Amino acid sequence: MTSSSDPQRPPSPSSGAARMEKIVSLCKRRGFIFQSSEIYGGLNGAWDYGPLGVELKRNLKDYWWRTMVHERDDVVGMDGSILMNRAVWKASGHEETFTDPMVDCRTCKARLRADQIPQKNGVPQCPNCGGKDLTEPRSFNLMFKTYVGATEDESSITYLRPETAQSIFVQFKNVLDVSRKKLPFGIAQIGKAFRNEINPRNFTFRSREFEQMELEYFCRPEQGMELLEYWKEERLKFYENIGIAREKLHVLTVPDAERAFYSKGTYDIEYEFPFGRQELEGVAYRTDYDLSQHQNASGKPLEYFDEEAKQKFIPHVIEPSAGVDRTVLALICEAYDEDTAPDDKGKQESRIVLRFSPRIAPIKCAIFPLLKNKEPLVAKARAVVNLLRPHMNVFYDETGAIGRRYRRQDEIGTPFGITIDFETLGERGDEFRDTVTLRERDSMKQERVKIADLVQLLIARIS
Ligand code: GAP
Repeated sequence: MTSSSDPQRPPSPSSGAARMEKIVSLCKRRGFIFQSSEIYGGLNGAWDYGPLGVELKRNLKDYWWRTMVHERDDVVGMDGSILMNRAVWKASGHEETFTDPMVDCRTCKARLRADQIPQKNGVPQCPNCGGKDLTEPRSFNLMFKTYVGATEDESSITYLRPETAQSIFVQFKNVLDVSRKKLPFGIAQIGKAFRNEINPRNFTFRSREFEQMELEYFCRPEQGMELLEYWKEERLKFYENIGIAREKLHVLTVPDAERAFYSKGTYDIEYEFPFGRQELEGVAYRTDYDLSQHQNASGKPLEYFDEEAKQKFIPHVIEPSAGVDRTVLALICEAYDEDTAPDDKGKQESRIVLRFSPRIAPIKCAIFPLLKNKEPLVAKARAVVNLLRPHMNVFYDETGAIGRRYRRQDEIGTPFGITIDFETLGERGDEFRDTVTLRERDSMKQERVKIADLVQLLIARIS
């Protein structure tokens, strides 16, 4: 086992360093993602999600949970601990083999991944200083080691989990017993994972602390290959349903030599990031490897009893394993756009717009009274906020010209804007009393809608 399930591929020719720079800057400026511990100089490979980032991330996780657990009869959820008995990591193979091959540069002391060292005239060279005095590759375990309890000795060692999957395997029997599911069925989990990556990079793409959304889908051995195809297709649909264009998604069939020895087939679902095509999710057929390892090491039976055949066997498993942070980054990259829009005087000006799918947008609807110093407009706008708030995340804004207020919401991807004007108050006749202007972010089209119809209409457009 190595950590390199996302092998380094060269960036695609259209790689956009400039585009990526703009995205990173927008993320900070508008409160999606900040560097962790920024005021102390940061911590490499760790990130904090700000007020908008946390909403985006939550919407993504909620949608995953909804489609993978709530909308299915054959999947249940669990939430395992991050710290587990060290024996888990011995049995899973992580303690022995969850490693990257490392090389040290004796000149500048840089530590480098052996598979990322460039060569000049056939001679490996340090990409930092150009030095040629490099050590032989050595294995570096990516798990963060820690001690449980007051004594720091061999007996108290454990690790921060490098994947959520193992707690699903070790709780397989308990979950099977309480849920009374029949094969095929799955156990889903969303949670933090930690890897001491040698080169965290590409913003949040490769971090040392990140979140995973994993499903372990248990089945009979003869169902494995078919279910691998099924889950690949389901997962592709998921990405399309959150607004990632199918043309930007690619399925890599992981070659035999790169696959874990126990896997009968693995697909990587990749996305065209501005820095190149990279893995979002792995869909792996892991056979009965994990349950067998834990059964052998713990001495506890992890078998399934087939009532009809009156036989016991260890189920096989298909694992769609996605990264929350990578998907958030893909959503932002996919949504980022620049175009032009008219200002308050009708003059075209450039705008930055995040074209998030309404389903995952952090704020669903912004509400604006046309003027902030007209009490009846403000009161009506506040009433609309109260009407919508129980159903969706809304934002009230009364400051600045209306065009500027639209622009601020476009930049954070709010799909709908509602303006309360004098027509709403009935000052231009009864025809438009209690109606508002509903503006759509991408087309910038405006329609007149009754306040009484707003909840139903917006819910249909954001679910
Ligand atoms: N249980 C299988 C497993 O963990 P993996 O391919 O190593 O497989 C699954 O990880 C997903 O977790 C990846 O496709 C990626 O989205 C995410 N992931 C892995 N390492 C990551 C890192 N250092 N930073 C951010 N996301 C990561």
